Amino acid sequence: MTDSTRAAIVTGANSGLGLECARALLATDPSWHVVLAVRDPRRGAAAVQRLGAEQRCTVMQLDLASLASVRGFIDDSRAGVLPPIRAVICNAGVQVVSGVQSTADGYEMTFGVNHLGHFALVRGLLDTLHAPARIVVVSSRTHDPARFTGMPHPRYTSGAALARPPGDLTAEEGRRRYTTSKLCNLLFCYELDRRLDHGAQGMTVNAFDPGLMPGSGLGRDYSPRSGSPGVTYYLHCAFFPVSTAPALPGATSQLWRRTRATTV
Ligand SMILES: NC(=O)c1ccc[n+]([C@@H]2O[C@H](COP(=O)([O-])OP(=O)(O)OC[C@H]3O[C@@H](n4cnc5c(N)ncnc54)[C@H](OP(=O)(O)O)[C@@H]3O)[C@@H](O)[C@H]2O)c1
Repeated sequence: MTDSTRAAIVTGANSGLGLECARALLATDPSWHVVLAVRDPRRGAAAVQRLGAEQRCTVMQLDLASLASVRGFIDDSRAGVLPPIRAVICNAGVQVVSGVQSTADGYEMTFGVNHLGHFALVRGLLDTLHAPARIVVVSSRTHDPARFTGMPHPRYTSGAALARPPGDLTAEEGRRRYTTSKLCNLLFCYELDRRLDHGAQGMTVNAFDPGLMPGSGLGRDYSPRSGSPGVTYYLHCAFFPVSTAPALPGATSQLWRRTRATTV
């Protein structure tokens, strides 16, 4: 299947930043085999064609909105077909602003996909990772009220309220659920890093903020009905060094190089 000696799992690798991350990994070193962990294997197969490296890619089905799917993915990863897994890139993400949607398990969708699904994935894969290994979680600066992002500040009251938010169905609250899910990503990284002894076990954990990438599919749920991201968002685009698009090296190669591990 492959001569590559180590595997990197990239969630949501069929489009946007995930696809460009896969491309950058393949270009970085011939020893990498990339697992495209995607919810639609046909879109994954199309992405492999675009990458032009069929021998060095495996498409595996993963729906982060279903904990059964996450468990199935973990079981398949243990089947021994892949090279040793040395990297997990938690990249997939959604931003649901047109009301509240739920995962297969009944959790709010943005929280369920961005945080909970990735949490379950990483927890389930931990004992199959081969050190030295790295875990990268794609976060965002929108979790930080001190940043001028135009997004509502995150609001954490309780785990139960994140999982099944009461009441407010406005687009503003949908955007807040996104920034709160990104705060969860960050807190997860800090705690996992602490539990892995800050790299002493040969596994590093990093959160990575790619910057604003207006050209990706993340805003697909925005519509005239759900409103725009807000004036401050456009001011941000106009006056700040906006990254960019995922395909630009400035966004994607940093995902790998600016993270802490240097040994993998
Ligand atoms: N765009 C920005 O400005 C920006 C800024 C900061 C951080 N980020 C972060 O960057 C990451 C990548 O986003 P992007 O901008 O590249 O957006 P994108 O183009 O929409 O890509 C998101 C990917 O996530 C996948 N995905 C969505 N729901 C999933 C599920 N239930 N299970 C598995 N995969 C699922 C999508 O698959 P489908 O194609 O099947 O939908 C898609 O491949 C996200 O974590 C996002 O929060 C983005």
